[in-house]
Amino acid sequence: MNLTLRIWRQKDRNSPGRIVEYQATNIIPDMSFLEMLDVVNEGLIAKGEEPIAFDSDCREGICGTCSLVIDGVAHGGQRGTTACQLHMRHFRDGQTITIEPWRAQAFPILRDLVTDRSAVDRIIAAGGFVSVNTGGCPDGNAIPVPKTDADAAMDAAACIGCGACVAACKNASAMLFVSAKVSHLAYLPQGKAERERRALAMVAQMDAEGFGSCTVTGSCEAVCPKEISLDFIAKLNREYGKAVLKGDARVSVGGGAG
Ligand code: SF4
Ligand code: FES
Repeated sequence: MNLTLRIWRQKDRNSPGRIVEYQATNIIPDMSFLEMLDVVNEGLIAKGEEPIAFDSDCREGICGTCSLVIDGVAHGGQRGTTACQLHMRHFRDGQTITIEPWRAQAFPILRDLVTDRSAVDRIIAAGGFVSVNTGGCPDGNAIPVPKTDADAAMDAAACIGCGACVAACKNASAMLFVSAKVSHLAYLPQGKAERERRALAMVAQMDAEGFGSCTVTGSCEAVCPKEISLDFIAKLNREYGKAVLKGDARVSVGGGAG
């Protein structure tokens, strides 16, 4: 396959960026999208040019670092698929493909296609955990979990924190991400003890990071590579509402959920 790539190049956080055109030649259809970019970079390095900076780690849809907007769609529009799991057979020979970084105030561009997504880590640090006292392990059978709750917790736990939901949202809202993390723990006995504090703290951190408000457009759900459901946003709103009503004074609250 031969392709024309229009790629966002930006030297650093403070420099202006621009779209630069490249040719990707002799691409094997079974290559992943990132392998295709590797081939282009090998060509650039051979010519003494600066390779295109992009993020990746696991390359198997787990870590959430491959943050690319491909032809205007976060992760490229193949349903339930991260950019690293997207294969070139889904494109046409001769096609022109535009590749850009996530665009959101809370995700500043560091270089080319690489953004600083540490805001999502700070939201997790604010409350996306359970406090576990070390000591004797309780018998698993002593804390039965209803099957529906276990299934819902597993569905929410599938979130890989990639930020595509933010990149796709016209408000750059992180509600789908936060709702997955809050819901995952709120459904399980181990997470229930801190559920109010967690919901308030994570929403407060989300607001402090500059993510926009949720207007439930659903664009997040449409691009999410792990198919996280909008239902979890409803769950977050319930968790947050109950926490506010309980009046947990240990956390100062920002603009509220959504
Ligand atoms: S909800 Fe989906 S799109 Fe958003 S961070 Fe999690 S996996 Fe990525
Ligand atoms: S590189 Fe890990 S999810 Fe894509």
